[in-house]
Amino acid sequence: MKIADAVTELTRDFIAAGFPSARLDARILVGHVTGFEPSMLFARGDVAINDAQMESIRGLARRHLAHEPVSRILGEREFYSLAFKITADTLDPRPDTETLVDAVLALRPAFKAPRILDLGTGTGCIPLAILHAWPSATAVGVDISPGAVAVAAENARRLGLSARAQFHVGDWTKGLSGPFDIVVSNPPYVTEAEHAVLAPEVRLYDPEAALTAGDDGLDAYRALLGPAAALLAPGGRIFVEIGAGQAAAVTVLGAAAGLRILARHPDLGGIDRCLAFAV
Ligand SMILES: C[S@@+](CC[C@H](N)C(=O)[O-])C[C@H]1O[C@@H](n2cnc3c(N)ncnc32)[C@H](O)[C@@H]1O
Repeated sequence: MKIADAVTELTRDFIAAGFPSARLDARILVGHVTGFEPSMLFARGDVAINDAQMESIRGLARRHLAHEPVSRILGEREFYSLAFKITADTLDPRPDTETLVDAVLALRPAFKAPRILDLGTGTGCIPLAILHAWPSATAVGVDISPGAVAVAAENARRLGLSARAQFHVGDWTKGLSGPFDIVVSNPPYVTEAEHAVLAPEVRLYDPEAALTAGDDGLDAYRALLGPAAALLAPGGRIFVEIGAGQAAAVTVLGAAAGLRILARHPDLGGIDRCLAFAV
């Protein structure tokens, strides 16, 4: 079989399954096995694929047809134009979370060498994207999942940022001493009821503990906003990602923790995605 035929076969199967990015997914998976950049496959359509390669391609296609996202199959996700390793222990970073990174990076003129704390770090995508763009910053990332912390540390090594990033296993701020200039968090914020009806790509493949936060989705904010405020340096800021429709409730929880709201940052879809607080 030739590369072009393999791409056609997978595209047909993915379209039949209703996948919106069927053609791109097919090219990425065929490119992954054959070693060609997906964008180069058109020019390589006549290259022959051996039986073992075609078996691998069909194996990956079967996983995708079972709703495993392409990023999980490849074990990698691009976030803020950087490549992050992902595993079953980590959330697959979302483009919406780049809103939080943008909001933090807008502070560059105001802080010289900020000490940053990321609560619930997962792959480490938030602090590592920030450190990559802000050479004088240092960061500590915490996660309750030892597997996630190992992935975050590996991502720091891969990106050449280990000297400025530390990752620890921990329960939010427990055992940490500040002060930190900037605290960031994309905590779990999905309700138990919402989780039950999430798309299989999310429900079956993202760790449930990375997504759900009690009956109303607000448990993590209740747990972390007060202790995070206590670790803040004078003039410091807290940035949290929120789910659609949670801005008012999280603003109230911030106020109860002694935090005043500074800004709401919308994502590219116009939904309030990140709240900025100060003491
Ligand atoms: C929504 S994910 C965010 C991951 C990553 N920051 C990102 O944006 O892709 C939430 C993270 O919080 C972690 N987490 C959940 N409960 C925690 C706790 N009590 N203490 C620390 N981390 C926790 C989860 O393991 C998960 O990695």
